[in-house]
Amino acid sequence: MRHGGSRRKRSSSFVRYLVLLCAVGAAICFLMLNVLMRMEASSDQYGNGERFEEPPAQTTGMEGRRSSCAMVEQMGDPFKDGVRKESLRVRTIIQNHFYLNGASRVRQLPPEQFCKHGFVMGKSSEAGFGNEMYKILTAGALSIMLNRSLIIGQTRGKFPFGDYISYSDISFTLKEIKHLWRLNGCVKKFNRRLIMRIDDFEKPAQTNVLCSNWKEWEHPIIWFQGTTDAVAAQFFLKNIHPTMRAAASNLFGWPEVLESRPNVFGELMRVLISPSKNVEEAVFSVLKSGADPDISLHMRMLMNRSVRGLQAAVQCIRKAMLNLTGLSKPRLVLVSDTPNFVKSIVPILDEFAEVIHFDYEHFRGNISGTDDEFHKLDFRVKDWGPSPRWVAFVDFFLASRAKHAVISGAHRRVGTTYAQLIAALAAANNLDNLGNKSTGSDFLFLSSFQSNLLREGLKNQIGWGHIWNRFAGPLSCPSQPNQCAVTPLLPPAWWDGLWQSPIPRDVKRMENYGVHLTSFGTVDEDSLRSFCNAKKNVLRTIPFIL
Ligand SMILES: *[C@@H]1O[C@H](CO)[C@@H](O)[C@H](O)[C@H]1NC(C)=O
Ligand SMILES: *[C@@H]1O[C@H](CO)[C@@H](O)[C@H](O)[C@H]1NC(C)=O
Ligand SMILES: *[C@@H]1O[C@H](CO)[C@@H](O)[C@H](O)[C@H]1NC(C)=O
Ligand SMILES: *[C@@H]1O[C@H](CO)[C@@H](O)[C@H](O)[C@H]1NC(C)=O
Ligand SMILES: *[C@@H]1O[C@H](CO)[C@@H](O)[C@H](O)[C@H]1NC(C)=O
Repeated sequence: MRHGGSRRKRSSSFVRYLVLLCAVGAAICFLMLNVLMRMEASSDQYGNGERFEEPPAQTTGMEGRRSSCAMVEQMGDPFKDGVRKESLRVRTIIQNHFYLNGASRVRQLPPEQFCKHGFVMGKSSEAGFGNEMYKILTAGALSIMLNRSLIIGQTRGKFPFGDYISYSDISFTLKEIKHLWRLNGCVKKFNRRLIMRIDDFEKPAQTNVLCSNWKEWEHPIIWFQGTTDAVAAQFFLKNIHPTMRAAASNLFGWPEVLESRPNVFGELMRVLISPSKNVEEAVFSVLKSGADPDISLHMRMLMNRSVRGLQAAVQCIRKAMLNLTGLSKPRLVLVSDTPNFVKSIVPILDEFAEVIHFDYEHFRGNISGTDDEFHKLDFRVKDWGPSPRWVAFVDFFLASRAKHAVISGAHRRVGTTYAQLIAALAAANNLDNLGNKSTGSDFLFLSSFQSNLLREGLKNQIGWGHIWNRFAGPLSCPSQPNQCAVTPLLPPAWWDGLWQSPIPRDVKRMENYGVHLTSFGTVDEDSLRSFCNAKKNVLRTIPFIL
């Protein structure tokens, strides 16, 4: 897999080039493309040949003519075999990392070694759960790439979402680092002040994510700020320094071989977080003494109750059930930001599934006591729904117990950060370490699209951190019917896959980072290198007073 990457990349960008030619119009191109794809399929060394078995075809609109665009199910097809092997590989990397750099070993280091040790800060506030969780997970990923220990920042002595989430003891708090820095005499004996270097991803002109070799940074603490989704950590995949690229690829795989990229964020969550006792009690109150759910359905409806979303979701549930033979009715967890939508669809789903749902109004547990702080927050009802905030945590941990599939449906954007993290954690929970016997089928993450979301292809999936954004450019066909697409567990950050292409808004956004994308989203490496050479080095640090 490793060494094959560049060959694959070259040929697939050639295919993409042909696709472009075809888009320009010559029908003969379709023939050439077909021939080429057959050749690719037969010469493919990785057993990924099925990607090319069917030449790209579009049946809507153009009377079955070969086409220069793909449907969303076709885009998702390469992900159907799962990423079991790659995820187990990353699980081992994570285990080894936290064995070496976990708090329990590092706090025992002799002063000389401790004072030389490096840390990465993971800091988040209590805004939207998906975005804030990604900040912590990005820090975890960066700590692995840089071989540093992880700090999880606290605010007034409390961890982010600390009432609802428990953190494992593999990370440090800043308070402990300050204490150990004093105790070990790092300043006096080793002349090493406790300084944090800050790099703000949300300021494209300032961030060093693409241009600097972070492994050479000597500051005791590094904080990569503003990393609200799966994208930021994966920017290192295109860093101009080979060592940074290698570190990123070791974790995230190769951006051009989308179907082999491990479930990094799910594996990180698995070792970093668990539900607090309160939240876990609420989860168990829904499951009662019954088994874990088979399927989780997350519908982000933004207060809309349109039936189209439901129709598409039902199609996805049926697809997920195909391989659940022997079950008369699957157990299905329903999670939504729109309570009225839940009320209206439960009776419909009840006919073929055993629907379970967390109804906070009838929950008599102890969480509501800690609810006050959230009510003080000026939260966006439109975005998060009218339920109390803590319900999102119960829903999250409940839905991530799905054994078989997570389905993401939406009124507008499918595969938001919240849905991504549910699927990632559920997949990690289902990845057993014991032997290689598969328990039936692999875990599935499915995206349910109603046709009105696909009228202009995926063009409206504009959220930078949403899974289908990287497929939203001109290679997605217009006027597609309802579909249920297999979805990658690791949201792609680049556009190197066969059917990936950027929307104009993202091309502009990437220009700010010094990245010139070709019309199919490949990075112009030369122009990035000259951008980096010309860029002035921004160094922002803050010292800590011990
Ligand atoms: C990573 O850090 C550990 C301990 O912190 C050290 O033993 C190991 O040599 C480091 N590895 C690399 C590749 O720098
Ligand atoms: C719900 O969405 C549909 C389809 O986009 C739209 O036609 C309808 O007006 C929306 N209804 C509400 C109440 O927002
Ligand atoms: C169901 O299982 C078959 C073979 O066991 C497999 O080919 C197919 O892709 C699976 N479908 C889903 C939706 O998992
Ligand atoms: C709520 O928590 C308090 C202490 O944390 C405990 O004494 C009480 O029994 C709990 N109530 C319920 C209903 O679980
Ligand atoms: C795992 O696969 C290997 C070969 O691929 C086989 O030799 C081994 O017995 C398998 N182990 C289990 C537990 O199935």
